[in-house]
Amino acid sequence: MNVAKPRILCVDDEPVNLKLFDAFLVPQGYEVLHAHSGRQALELIREQKVDLVLLDIMMPEMNGYDVCRLIKEDPASANLPVIMITSLQVKKERIKGIEAGAEEFISKPIDQGEVLARIRMLLKMKELHDRLGQAYASVTSLAAFGDETIKILDPAGFDLMPNIDRLVNQIIRQTIDSADRPQIFIVSIRTVSGWKWYYYESPFKELTRHEFELDAQNSLQLPGDGDSAILYAARSEFAAKGLSAFVSRLEAQPLPMAPIKNIFCFLSAELCVFAANYGREVSAYDAAILNTLATQSLLFKLLSDQARQNQEDVVQTVNALARAAASHDVDNDNHVLRVGEFCALLARRLGLNENFSRAIQLQSQLHDVGNIFIPLEILKKKGVPNFQEWEIIRTHTRFGAQIIGNHPRLAMAHAIALSHHENWDGSGYPNWLKGEQIPLAGRIASLADRYDSLRSAKPYKQAMDHQTVCDMISRGNERIKPEFFDPGVLTAFLDLTPQFAEIFERLQG
Ligand SMILES: [Fe+2]
Ligand SMILES: [Fe+2]
Repeated sequence: MNVAKPRILCVDDEPVNLKLFDAFLVPQGYEVLHAHSGRQALELIREQKVDLVLLDIMMPEMNGYDVCRLIKEDPASANLPVIMITSLQVKKERIKGIEAGAEEFISKPIDQGEVLARIRMLLKMKELHDRLGQAYASVTSLAAFGDETIKILDPAGFDLMPNIDRLVNQIIRQTIDSADRPQIFIVSIRTVSGWKWYYYESPFKELTRHEFELDAQNSLQLPGDGDSAILYAARSEFAAKGLSAFVSRLEAQPLPMAPIKNIFCFLSAELCVFAANYGREVSAYDAAILNTLATQSLLFKLLSDQARQNQEDVVQTVNALARAAASHDVDNDNHVLRVGEFCALLARRLGLNENFSRAIQLQSQLHDVGNIFIPLEILKKKGVPNFQEWEIIRTHTRFGAQIIGNHPRLAMAHAIALSHHENWDGSGYPNWLKGEQIPLAGRIASLADRYDSLRSAKPYKQAMDHQTVCDMISRGNERIKPEFFDPGVLTAFLDLTPQFAEIFERLQG
């Protein structure tokens, strides 16, 4: 594995001293940078990654104390260890160095063994310090992510992949040092239709997710339900750790994955996370980060499955209720299904979001559920109902709202049941609401229901053709006026008349 060498900046105005540093530092595996003055040293520290500074004190222009003070004052380099090289043995000079922030002092002439021991110790300290800083950044970042998730969480409309994207973005891009990030990142999720595979391209710049096909689950040993396993392997260990088949399938992908040099796997029965091609040795710290990411993703997966299950339950309940109402009603056909489709069509045309459009398609199907309380002899009466019978028929709006109840998931169905016979001009029932007093879903359902009722035969009236109904709605007659409808909804309807005709034909009872 290509492990980056620690980089030491040697600052001395005497070229011969710089050569001396090279002579004993380079063979020890350190990369050495030179600066001939304090100013040049500060520039190099700003521009490049430096792990330690060996700093001469007696230099023209800017002395070592001033350089050290400036390094320590800048938050970006405050933790960079500085060893001061001094020929001065005077105690008060050392105190000056301590006050400037230096970590260590070495006296000239240099004892190489002593310098190397101190360098090793300080580099170790810096590494631990950096890890601690990163861990702190991770915790802070994850806490911020948790806060954000709670704010935007919508359990009813939970969408898994955008949340996984946010998580990968947060953890991979924001909490791992750019030089240390894995080059390849893969998430695999079990769905009802099998495993889905996602590859994140270059998780260091803009995050891009690609879905790809991989028949690889058979080449992986997955733990049982509720368990998880973590596995890390360098290329030489793939065979021993049972990863050869899986890695070759990954490398055969038309994505820039090959060759895989090392891979970190989080495996579970529901979700797997793979990070590959780390540029340095993988530590327990990386494992902890990946583990956090995988566990949070699993949590999202469970939430998403639960949300889907809940949605299916709601759909089942609504359908059952709508069927119960329809079997009682005289219009034992597809009236409610058509109204649902008309409503969704109008909602999308009005620019309402997908959640609203899907909700109205389903929930408008309960608009006449209150008919269950209307005696059959009135509903099935041949001929126009008399005044008292109309009074009774009109109560289906209030009964409908009562049946649906006040559950927040059915709030739209409740509003539609109560308001689908209200008119924009205030001439409707049961509350004579006017204009925007009528909930938007009710205004949409009103037009959808009216179109479908006019087109359908009732015991007291004939069915009408599409064009006649469109003319009636747009121009009005003795029974119906364009003023009954929200002008925006009416415009949307007039733009969509061919689609209304098509839906009506397709969903004939
Ligand atoms: Fe109705
Ligand atoms: Fe209806």
